[in-house]
Amino acid sequence: MQHDYKGFPGQHIARSVAREYPRQAEVIAHRGQDLLLPRFDATDGRVLTPNRAAPAIRLPNDELVLRDLNTPWDVAKHAEARRPVSLGIVATDVQEAFVRELPPWCRHVLDMPIKFPGTGVRVPNALASFVPALQQILDIEAQLNPAYDAYYAYLSIHQARIEPGERMRENPYHVDGFQGPRWPHKHPVNHSYLLADALPTVFYPRSFPLDHLDLGLDDIYAEFARLIEGNPQTPTWRAADFDLVLMDAYCVHRGDVATVPVTRTWLRVSWETRIFDRLGNAHNPLFRYDWPMVARDTDTRIRPRPVA
Ligand SMILES: [Fe+2]
Repeated sequence: MQHDYKGFPGQHIARSVAREYPRQAEVIAHRGQDLLLPRFDATDGRVLTPNRAAPAIRLPNDELVLRDLNTPWDVAKHAEARRPVSLGIVATDVQEAFVRELPPWCRHVLDMPIKFPGTGVRVPNALASFVPALQQILDIEAQLNPAYDAYYAYLSIHQARIEPGERMRENPYHVDGFQGPRWPHKHPVNHSYLLADALPTVFYPRSFPLDHLDLGLDDIYAEFARLIEGNPQTPTWRAADFDLVLMDAYCVHRGDVATVPVTRTWLRVSWETRIFDRLGNAHNPLFRYDWPMVARDTDTRIRPRPVA
Protein backbone atom coordinates (compact mmCIF):
# COMPACT_ATOMS: atom_id res chain seq x y z
CA MET A 1 0.00 0.00 0.00
CA GLN A 2 1.28 3.42 -0.88
CA HIS A 3 0.79 6.47 1.29
CA ASP A 4 1.16 10.00 0.10
CA TYR A 5 2.66 12.94 1.92
CA LYS A 6 -0.63 14.00 3.48
CA GLY A 7 -1.41 10.58 4.81
CA PHE A 8 -4.23 9.66 2.43
CA PRO A 9 -4.54 6.18 0.95
CA GLY A 10 -2.82 6.07 -2.45
CA GLN A 11 -4.61 7.17 -5.57
CA HIS A 12 -5.25 3.68 -6.98
CA ILE A 13 -6.77 2.58 -3.68
CA ALA A 14 -9.06 5.62 -3.51
CA ARG A 15 -10.53 4.87 -6.92
CA SER A 16 -10.94 1.14 -6.47
CA VAL A 17 -12.60 1.46 -3.05
CA ALA A 18 -14.99 4.14 -4.34
CA ARG A 19 -15.88 1.88 -7.29
CA GLU A 20 -16.57 -1.04 -4.99
CA TYR A 21 -18.55 0.98 -2.42
CA PRO A 22 -20.24 3.75 -4.44
CA ARG A 23 -22.74 4.57 -1.68
CA GLN A 24 -20.24 4.58 1.20
CA ALA A 25 -17.27 6.38 -0.31
CA GLU A 26 -16.47 9.15 -2.74
CA VAL A 27 -13.35 10.48 -4.36
CA ILE A 28 -12.64 14.18 -4.56
CA ALA A 29 -9.93 15.69 -6.71
CA HIS A 30 -7.51 18.00 -4.95
CA ARG A 31 -4.49 19.45 -6.72
CA GLY A 32 -4.07 16.52 -9.03
CA GLN A 33 -4.65 13.95 -6.30
CA ASP A 34 -7.64 11.74 -5.57
CA LEU A 35 -8.71 11.81 -1.92
CA LEU A 36 -10.96 9.05 -0.59
CA LEU A 37 -13.74 10.22 1.70
CA PRO A 38 -16.12 8.01 3.68
CA ARG A 39 -19.86 8.74 3.43
CA PHE A 40 -21.45 7.76 6.71
CA ASP A 41 -25.16 7.02 7.15
CA ALA A 42 -27.00 10.04 8.58
CA THR A 43 -29.55 7.78 10.27
CA ASP A 44 -27.18 5.33 11.93
CA GLY A 45 -25.25 6.77 14.82
CA ARG A 46 -25.01 7.00 18.57
CA VAL A 47 -24.44 9.77 21.09
CA LEU A 48 -21.86 9.54 23.86
CA THR A 49 -21.70 11.79 26.90
CA PRO A 50 -19.12 11.85 29.68
CA ASN A 51 -19.73 9.38 32.47
CA ARG A 52 -19.58 11.67 35.47
CA ALA A 53 -19.23 8.61 37.71
CA ALA A 54 -16.03 7.52 35.93
CA PRO A 55 -13.14 6.91 38.32
CA ALA A 56 -11.07 10.01 39.02
CA ILE A 57 -7.83 10.01 37.07
CA ARG A 58 -4.56 10.61 38.85
CA LEU A 59 -2.04 12.64 36.89
CA PRO A 60 1.38 14.06 37.57
CA ASN A 61 1.10 17.82 38.08
CA ASP A 62 4.43 18.72 36.52
CA GLU A 63 3.53 17.88 32.90
CA LEU A 64 3.76 20.84 30.52
CA VAL A 65 0.90 19.46 28.38
CA LEU A 66 -1.40 19.67 31.42
CA ARG A 67 -0.03 23.04 32.54
CA ASP A 68 -0.78 24.57 29.14
CA LEU A 69 -4.22 23.05 28.55
CA ASN A 70 -6.70 25.85 27.66
CA THR A 71 -3.98 28.50 27.25
CA PRO A 72 -3.58 30.41 23.97
CA TRP A 73 -1.12 28.90 21.49
CA ASP A 74 2.26 30.61 21.80
CA VAL A 75 5.18 29.90 19.49
CA ALA A 76 7.63 30.62 22.33
CA LYS A 77 6.55 27.42 24.07
CA HIS A 78 8.26 25.39 21.36
CA ALA A 79 11.48 26.25 23.17
CA GLU A 80 10.44 24.03 26.11
CA ALA A 81 11.21 20.34 25.72
CA ARG A 82 8.06 18.34 26.30
CA ARG A 83 6.62 14.90 25.77
CA PRO A 84 3.04 13.61 25.80
CA VAL A 85 1.33 12.48 28.99
CA SER A 86 0.90 8.72 29.29
CA LEU A 87 -2.60 7.89 30.55
CA GLY A 88 -2.08 4.15 30.84
CA ILE A 89 -2.80 0.99 28.88
CA VAL A 90 -6.48 0.76 27.93
CA ALA A 91 -8.53 -2.18 29.25
CA THR A 92 -8.67 -5.49 27.37
CA ASP A 93 -12.25 -4.95 26.18
CA VAL A 94 -11.26 -1.56 24.73
CA GLN A 95 -8.31 -3.20 22.95
CA GLU A 96 -10.39 -6.06 21.54
CA ALA A 97 -12.95 -3.71 20.02
CA PHE A 98 -10.28 -1.30 18.76
CA VAL A 99 -8.48 -3.83 16.56
CA ARG A 100 -11.60 -5.09 14.77
CA GLU A 101 -11.26 -4.94 11.00
CA LEU A 102 -13.10 -1.97 9.46
CA PRO A 103 -14.89 -1.98 6.10
CA PRO A 104 -12.42 -0.80 3.42
CA TRP A 105 -14.34 2.44 2.80
CA CYS A 106 -13.81 3.79 6.33
CA ARG A 107 -10.29 2.69 7.15
CA HIS A 108 -9.12 6.25 6.73
CA VAL A 109 -11.05 9.05 8.43
CA LEU A 110 -9.47 12.45 8.79
CA ASP A 111 -10.46 15.15 11.28
CA MET A 112 -14.18 14.43 11.28
CA PRO A 113 -16.07 16.54 13.86
CA ILE A 114 -17.70 14.27 16.45
CA LYS A 115 -18.53 17.02 18.93
CA PHE A 116 -19.54 20.65 18.52
CA PRO A 117 -19.55 23.15 21.39
CA GLY A 118 -22.36 22.19 23.73
CA THR A 119 -23.25 18.85 22.06
CA GLY A 120 -22.68 15.21 22.90
CA VAL A 121 -20.18 13.10 20.94
CA ARG A 122 -21.91 11.68 17.83
CA VAL A 123 -20.36 8.57 16.30
CA PRO A 124 -21.48 6.84 13.08
CA ASN A 125 -22.19 3.19 13.81
CA ALA A 126 -19.75 2.07 11.11
CA LEU A 127 -17.11 3.17 13.66
CA ALA A 128 -18.71 1.38 16.61
CA SER A 129 -15.49 -0.52 17.35
CA PHE A 130 -13.98 2.75 18.60
CA VAL A 131 -16.80 3.60 20.99
CA PRO A 132 -15.14 2.05 24.09
CA ALA A 133 -11.93 4.02 23.43
CA LEU A 134 -13.89 7.20 22.70
CA GLN A 135 -15.91 6.82 25.90
CA GLN A 136 -12.71 6.56 27.92
CA ILE A 137 -11.24 9.59 26.16
CA LEU A 138 -14.23 11.81 26.78
CA ASP A 139 -14.49 10.67 30.40
CA ILE A 140 -10.88 11.79 30.88
CA GLU A 141 -11.32 15.00 28.89
CA ALA A 142 -14.39 16.00 30.93
CA GLN A 143 -12.29 15.68 34.10
CA LEU A 144 -9.23 17.46 32.74
CA ASN A 145 -10.77 20.29 30.81
CA PRO A 146 -12.99 22.79 32.66
CA ALA A 147 -13.95 24.23 29.25
CA TYR A 148 -15.04 20.82 27.89
CA ASP A 149 -18.33 22.17 26.53
CA ALA A 150 -16.68 24.95 24.54
CA TYR A 151 -14.60 22.59 22.41
CA TYR A 152 -15.03 20.78 19.14
CA ALA A 153 -13.63 17.25 18.97
CA TYR A 154 -12.31 15.79 15.70
CA LEU A 155 -11.80 12.10 15.06
CA SER A 156 -9.08 10.63 12.84
CA ILE A 157 -8.65 6.93 12.17
CA HIS A 158 -6.29 4.93 10.04
CA GLN A 159 -6.16 1.16 9.72
CA ALA A 160 -3.67 -0.28 7.24
CA ARG A 161 -1.07 -2.91 6.57
CA ILE A 162 2.42 -1.43 6.68
CA GLU A 163 5.37 -3.11 5.00
CA PRO A 164 8.97 -2.96 6.26
CA GLY A 165 10.51 0.41 5.42
CA GLU A 166 7.12 2.19 5.26
CA ARG A 167 5.44 4.64 7.59
CA MET A 168 1.66 4.61 7.97
CA ARG A 169 1.70 8.26 6.85
CA GLU A 170 4.52 9.67 4.79
CA ASN A 171 4.80 12.90 6.68
CA PRO A 172 7.68 15.01 7.97
CA TYR A 173 8.63 15.83 11.55
CA HIS A 174 5.62 17.93 12.50
CA VAL A 175 3.08 19.04 15.09
CA ASP A 176 -0.71 18.85 15.01
CA GLY A 177 -2.45 22.17 15.55
CA PHE A 178 0.19 24.74 14.58
CA GLN A 179 -1.38 28.23 14.50
CA GLY A 180 0.31 30.16 11.73
CA PRO A 181 -0.54 33.52 10.18
CA ARG A 182 -4.07 32.43 9.25
CA TRP A 183 -4.86 32.82 12.96
CA PRO A 184 -3.82 36.33 14.07
CA HIS A 185 -5.76 35.89 17.31
CA LYS A 186 -4.49 32.77 18.94
CA HIS A 187 -6.88 30.07 20.07
CA PRO A 188 -6.31 27.64 22.95
CA VAL A 189 -3.58 25.20 22.04
CA ASN A 190 -4.72 21.99 20.36
CA HIS A 191 -4.57 18.88 22.50
CA SER A 192 -5.05 15.39 21.11
CA TYR A 193 -5.44 11.87 22.46
CA LEU A 194 -3.61 9.14 20.54
CA LEU A 195 -4.07 5.40 20.65
CA ALA A 196 -2.38 2.74 18.48
CA ASP A 197 -2.13 -1.03 18.70
CA ALA A 198 1.35 -1.15 17.15
CA LEU A 199 4.22 0.99 15.89
CA PRO A 200 3.77 3.90 18.32
CA THR A 201 4.40 7.44 17.09
CA VAL A 202 7.91 8.77 17.75
CA PHE A 203 8.15 11.99 19.77
CA TYR A 204 11.17 14.28 20.11
CA PRO A 205 11.17 15.86 23.58
CA ARG A 206 13.75 18.58 23.00
CA SER A 207 13.72 22.37 22.67
CA PHE A 208 12.70 23.76 19.26
CA PRO A 209 13.27 27.54 19.44
CA LEU A 210 11.33 29.15 16.59
CA ASP A 211 11.43 32.82 17.63
CA HIS A 212 13.93 33.68 14.90
CA LEU A 213 11.65 32.41 12.12
CA ASP A 214 8.97 34.14 10.09
CA LEU A 215 5.98 31.85 10.55
CA GLY A 216 4.43 33.13 7.32
CA LEU A 217 7.45 32.37 5.19
CA ASP A 218 9.79 29.89 6.77
CA ASP A 219 9.48 26.13 6.58
CA ILE A 220 8.85 25.15 10.18
CA TYR A 221 8.95 21.44 9.41
CA ALA A 222 12.36 21.83 7.80
CA GLU A 223 13.53 23.52 10.99
CA PHE A 224 12.27 20.58 13.07
CA ALA A 225 14.18 18.23 10.74
CA ARG A 226 17.34 20.34 10.94
CA LEU A 227 17.31 20.36 14.74
CA ILE A 228 16.52 16.65 15.05
CA GLU A 229 18.77 15.23 12.34
CA GLY A 230 21.55 17.68 13.06
CA ASN A 231 21.70 16.58 16.71
CA PRO A 232 22.23 12.85 17.17
CA GLN A 233 21.67 13.32 20.91
CA THR A 234 18.02 14.34 20.34
CA PRO A 235 15.96 12.14 22.68
CA THR A 236 13.03 10.09 21.42
CA TRP A 237 9.96 8.90 23.27
CA ARG A 238 7.41 6.27 22.27
CA ALA A 239 4.28 5.12 24.07
CA ALA A 240 3.72 1.41 24.61
CA ASP A 241 1.22 -0.35 22.35
CA PHE A 242 -2.32 0.49 23.57
CA ASP A 243 -1.05 3.24 25.88
CA LEU A 244 -3.46 6.17 25.61
CA VAL A 245 -1.45 9.37 25.41
CA LEU A 246 -2.27 13.07 25.46
CA MET A 247 -0.13 15.44 23.41
CA ASP A 248 -0.44 19.11 22.55
CA ALA A 249 0.49 21.22 19.54
CA TYR A 250 4.06 21.71 20.83
CA CYS A 251 4.89 17.98 20.81
CA VAL A 252 7.00 17.38 17.69
CA HIS A 253 6.52 13.88 16.29
CA ARG A 254 6.60 11.59 13.28
CA GLY A 255 5.19 8.20 12.39
CA ASP A 256 7.68 5.38 12.86
CA VAL A 257 9.07 3.15 10.12
CA ALA A 258 8.01 -0.49 10.26
CA THR A 259 10.78 -3.06 10.48
CA VAL A 260 8.43 -6.03 10.05
CA PRO A 261 5.04 -6.25 8.28
CA VAL A 262 2.34 -5.01 10.62
CA THR A 263 -1.36 -4.19 10.51
CA ARG A 264 -1.84 -1.02 12.48
CA THR A 265 -4.95 0.66 13.85
CA TRP A 266 -4.45 4.26 14.93
CA LEU A 267 -6.85 6.81 16.40
CA ARG A 268 -6.56 10.50 17.23
CA VAL A 269 -9.13 12.73 18.91
CA SER A 270 -8.22 16.42 18.65
CA TRP A 271 -9.81 19.03 20.90
CA GLU A 272 -10.01 22.50 19.40
CA THR A 273 -12.02 25.72 19.53
CA ARG A 274 -11.39 26.27 15.80
CA ILE A 275 -13.26 24.70 12.92
CA PHE A 276 -11.23 22.21 10.88
CA ASP A 277 -12.24 23.02 7.35
CA ARG A 278 -9.58 21.50 5.15
CA LEU A 279 -10.52 19.67 1.98
CA GLY A 280 -10.29 15.95 2.55
CA ASN A 281 -11.61 16.03 6.11
CA ALA A 282 -14.44 13.55 6.61
CA HIS A 283 -18.00 14.83 7.00
CA ASN A 284 -20.14 13.71 9.93
CA PRO A 285 -23.80 13.60 8.77
CA LEU A 286 -24.97 13.28 12.39
CA PHE A 287 -24.46 17.07 12.56
CA ARG A 288 -25.87 19.76 10.26
CA TYR A 289 -23.05 21.99 9.09
CA ASP A 290 -21.74 23.31 5.84
CA TRP A 291 -18.33 24.88 6.15
CA PRO A 292 -16.58 26.20 3.06
CA MET A 293 -13.57 23.89 2.76
CA VAL A 294 -10.13 25.28 2.02
CA ALA A 295 -7.09 23.73 0.35
CA ARG A 296 -5.04 21.57 2.66
CA ASP A 297 -1.76 23.42 2.79
CA THR A 298 -2.71 27.05 3.30
CA ASP A 299 -3.10 27.07 7.04
CA THR A 300 0.37 27.08 8.48
CA ARG A 301 2.73 28.44 5.89
CA ILE A 302 1.85 30.81 3.08
CA ARG A 303 4.98 30.29 1.04
CA PRO A 304 7.45 27.97 2.76
CA ARG A 305 11.09 28.68 2.13
CA PRO A 306 14.11 26.79 3.37
CA VAL A 307 15.42 28.05 6.69
CA ALA A 308 18.76 29.78 6.23
FE1 LIG B 1 0.68 14.20 13.72
